[in-house]
Amino acid sequence: MKKIPLIMDCDPGLDDAIGILLTLASPEKIDLLGITTVVGNCPLEQAEQNARRICELAGRPDIKVFKGCPRTLFSSNFQASFTDYGAADIHGETGLGGCKLPPPTMPSQSQDAVNYLIDTLLNAPSKITIAASGALTNLACAFIMEPRIKEKIEKIVVMGGSIGIGNISPAAEYNFYTDPQAAYVIFKSGVPLIMIGLDTTRKTQTSEKWLSEIEAIGTPVAQAIIDMLSFYHRPDAILEPGVNGGVLHDPNIIAYLLKPEFYKGREVHVEIDISSTILAGRSTVDWHGKLDRKATAFVVNDVNVDSFFTLLTERLERYASLNKEHACSRC
Ligand code: RIB
Ligand code: CA
Repeated sequence: MKKIPLIMDCDPGLDDAIGILLTLASPEKIDLLGITTVVGNCPLEQAEQNARRICELAGRPDIKVFKGCPRTLFSSNFQASFTDYGAADIHGETGLGGCKLPPPTMPSQSQDAVNYLIDTLLNAPSKITIAASGALTNLACAFIMEPRIKEKIEKIVVMGGSIGIGNISPAAEYNFYTDPQAAYVIFKSGVPLIMIGLDTTRKTQTSEKWLSEIEAIGTPVAQAIIDMLSFYHRPDAILEPGVNGGVLHDPNIIAYLLKPEFYKGREVHVEIDISSTILAGRSTVDWHGKLDRKATAFVVNDVNVDSFFTLLTERLERYASLNKEHACSRC
């Protein structure tokens, strides 16, 4: 079976962390080339350290993790979305909820994420897939600096946007709202896009039953997941009152790569709003082809939720035997 050469661009963040663990539990299908990190659920420094924490937890200190943009394209005095939009209330002060993992010891990469993306894509022997689960700032910078990399991208599977209402604002989803201009650059690039937005990801919420299944696995990885997600699982989501459980947005983009048959959607035209109005960051999805414009993304609108969680549990169970030689003795 041909492996998918993959770069993950993310802002770990609790659901990003589960996405990384799902990726690293699927080595027969995904060859994770590197992880690039961006500001979003927490400051960049924390996101990068968290990505390394999760790689060590997974027994993969060999994974290369890169620091990307510490702020978004046009937010001049932007400190980090986590302060602006209360992400710390959702992902915790560390960005990983109640996780007790020690600071990472695996090396951080000296090269910045944008130049890593450019060098890796330009020199790749074949096209690379990108899984993006944070603000699209790193990718937009790479596209602006070196447009030739577009020909070396198989597709970008992005967690972001929505067909319906937003979460951080009535109009927009958090990743696109954090950097609307970056999302605009990506959606105008012509690169094959798979957009998995809130309409789909809201359906994959943690439940007490599922958390109990994970806890019963009994490995250090499982316990770390419980420490992380217990903070995230709550009766009333902060961003979306009435949405219960911790919404596992980001693992959907990895599950899509592993089992696309779990998902439904269609090729449609998508526009990203870059106005400075209440619509900032909105993804307008022409679901019924009213505009008669060229499709710009395959937009996913549904997922088989039971299959998603069965896959996730089965893969997380693998950590009982995976990478025994790397077994994280520090968990
Ligand atoms: O809106 C949900 C998205 O924003 C997820 O990727 C979450 O991790 C945050 O980055
Ligand atoms: Ca994310």
